[in-house]
Amino acid sequence: EKVIKAALLGLGTVGSGVYKVLRNQKEEMPHKIGAVVEVEKILVRNLKKASAKVENPEILTNDWKTILEDESIEIVIEVMGGIEPARTYILEALNAGKHVVTANKDLVASHGQELLECAAEHNCDFLFEAAVAGGIPIIRPLKQCLAANHITEIMGIVNGTTNFILTKMTQEGMEFAQALALATELGYAEADPTADIQGLDAGRKMAIMASIAFNSRVTFDDVITEGITQISAKDIRYAKELGCVIKLLGVARNTENGIEVSVRPMLIPETHALATVNDSFNAVFLTGDAVGDAMFYGRGAGELPTASAIAGDVFDVARNIVFECTGRIGCTCYKQLPLKKADE
Ligand code: NDP
Ligand code: HSE
Repeated sequence: EKVIKAALLGLGTVGSGVYKVLRNQKEEMPHKIGAVVEVEKILVRNLKKASAKVENPEILTNDWKTILEDESIEIVIEVMGGIEPARTYILEALNAGKHVVTANKDLVASHGQELLECAAEHNCDFLFEAAVAGGIPIIRPLKQCLAANHITEIMGIVNGTTNFILTKMTQEGMEFAQALALATELGYAEADPTADIQGLDAGRKMAIMASIAFNSRVTFDDVITEGITQISAKDIRYAKELGCVIKLLGVARNTENGIEVSVRPMLIPETHALATVNDSFNAVFLTGDAVGDAMFYGRGAGELPTASAIAGDVFDVARNIVFECTGRIGCTCYKQLPLKKADE
């Protein structure tokens, strides 16, 4: 039986989920991918805190070099978050010929091009399905299944934390702060939830989707963002009186005048399909010239839904290693289209 060794960088909410899913899939992996992926090392800062989460604490380390220099490790799974040192570690891993899977939307939205180019240069896979909408498959559908479409519009509820907060405020009259605390406890929120509640996290996800869907380079700086911090119980009540709910909605349009991407709280009629997307669920609607309208729905955050997307990427990389065809989808050839701030 072929064994492919992987390293996890981070063992928080998502890292713990990936560890569990890969362990649970051990028996099935050979039939699915022709190999077993084993977690050989896990990088954390606090070894003591992490030791209760794994069966064999000797695989824990706080020294990145022991992973980088271990030639038996072929896949690096980055689930630490933040720009640095994640960017440096990923570049070093790719330069060493290791394949990388990440859930880090901050990094992909700001440095995706650099990382994809580095992966292509080294014939490595660089996959990030979990970076947008947690467990919902959306990156691969955009990159592959829908690639033959001219996509004109994407609309999405792509942040689980804010959708959870708005749902709790609407359905249970919960206070904003209490709902945020609960979302954090459930593992939906970022380490610093400012990115969630100010719409930055959703903005990063919309930038990633727009780049792939419109085959252009859209970075977070191109996105207009407004969060939900100003939404009060009164706003929720007024929305209800109008037969609406408030949702944090991302909209990306590819128009004749250029690309415009925004994230804003919006009033949605209660009868609209988006109004029924509640709790930590996410949804993405898109329109293509061939497919027409398509909709994707599922859990957008949390330990196991996110781990599902990451482990799927890891399986893909492992399959590519088995069939000696890595690096095939590492590169996107962008045509830079004009960018237009939505308010211009
Ligand atoms: P957590 O804060 O729960 O976990 C982060 C982990 O990374 C911890 O184990 C931490 O170790 C470790 N870590 C952080 N910095 C370093 C470092 N410099 N060196 C070594 N270890 C480090 O985050 P999440 O698991 O929630 O998120 C991880 C990533 O996944 C982020 O990029 C996030 O945006 C993304 N993501 C999260 C989702 C979710 O639902 N939570 C969904 C989709 C994506 P220690 O505890 O020792 O400090
Ligand atoms: N904090 C993010 C959210 C995690 O709430 O959607 C998933 O990307």
